[in-house]
Amino acid sequence: MREYLRDKFTGSLIGTAVGDSLGAGREGSLGFREVREIGSRYTDDTHMMIGVAESLIACGGFHAQHMVKTFIENYTAEPWRGYGPGPPRIFRLVQAGRSWEQAAREIYPDGSFGNGSAMRVAPVGVLFHDDFDRLRAVAMESSRITHAHSLGMEGAFLQAAAIALAVREYDRPSDPAVFIRTLLAHTREGIYRGKLEAVSSLLERGEERARVVSELGHGIEACHSVPTAVFSFLANPDFEAAVVYAVSLGGDADTIGAMTGAIAGACFGIEGIPASWRRQVENGSYIENLGAQLWELKKRDGFGVPE
Ligand code: AR6
Ligand code: MG
Repeated sequence: MREYLRDKFTGSLIGTAVGDSLGAGREGSLGFREVREIGSRYTDDTHMMIGVAESLIACGGFHAQHMVKTFIENYTAEPWRGYGPGPPRIFRLVQAGRSWEQAAREIYPDGSFGNGSAMRVAPVGVLFHDDFDRLRAVAMESSRITHAHSLGMEGAFLQAAAIALAVREYDRPSDPAVFIRTLLAHTREGIYRGKLEAVSSLLERGEERARVVSELGHGIEACHSVPTAVFSFLANPDFEAAVVYAVSLGGDADTIGAMTGAIAGACFGIEGIPASWRRQVENGSYIENLGAQLWELKKRDGFGVPE
């Protein structure tokens, strides 16, 4: 009955990898340019998303210590994926014996507000799509490991919430205004509320890219990239258009591509992702299988809202 949801679970994870691989060649670039060729490698965005999924599956739910261990093992095996400045330093501190709680506040006393915890959150978004309280709790705790700043944690929650809403919609958001209103109702930080209101008015006015970037940002900070991904999803009719648009904005293109791909993949499902991209994306069958295992876990764990 709910089997169509399986496509949304796998779609969100593969969508992350496709958006990331599409944007990987444009990371840090300025100016607007559309690309449609996906790179042969994904970056740290997908690598860490895989770690989140692996840990949730192995533990049958969220377990902070296990997730840190998984991140460290994956990073140690493939440190060349283009990790942000913070996480590898945190991993080294943990390996040297520091608790992750301490390590996450060593570089910045308030913790990081980079987008590194939002970019990897797709497995949390799909697994807890039917329960906003658990979704908030797990998204924030999964962020805290490396991104303990309130704006980093809220960014991870907001990205997870957008994915959750996209899972709940059938194959497109019924109404972008309702989508934004629902996100606003769950958003606690003023800076994100302001950005979501800007997303609404940019959508209404059909604004150009320069305006979108100047109002929402395309940076490495969660608050300057998560709302941009939400906008990229809502402003476009399908998966392909959404990720091509997101990457065309430049700046932190791989991460905004990954986050847009996670939301759009959750909405349109894996069948909504162009077949050539699905074939080309690195480790596609492994990532798809992680999505399928999360779906099996969801069925065992049960659904928050009986239907
Ligand atoms: N105070 C000042 N600057 C900060 C703070 C803070 N509390 N927190 C973050 N920054 P980081 P990430 C700035 O290092 O989020 C990869 O390319 C600071 O400039 O935690 O994992 C991915 O593809 C810091 O270096 O890393 C993503 O694009 C930066 O935000 C990205 O990196 C990033 O925070 C993810 O990076
Ligand atoms: Mg990036």
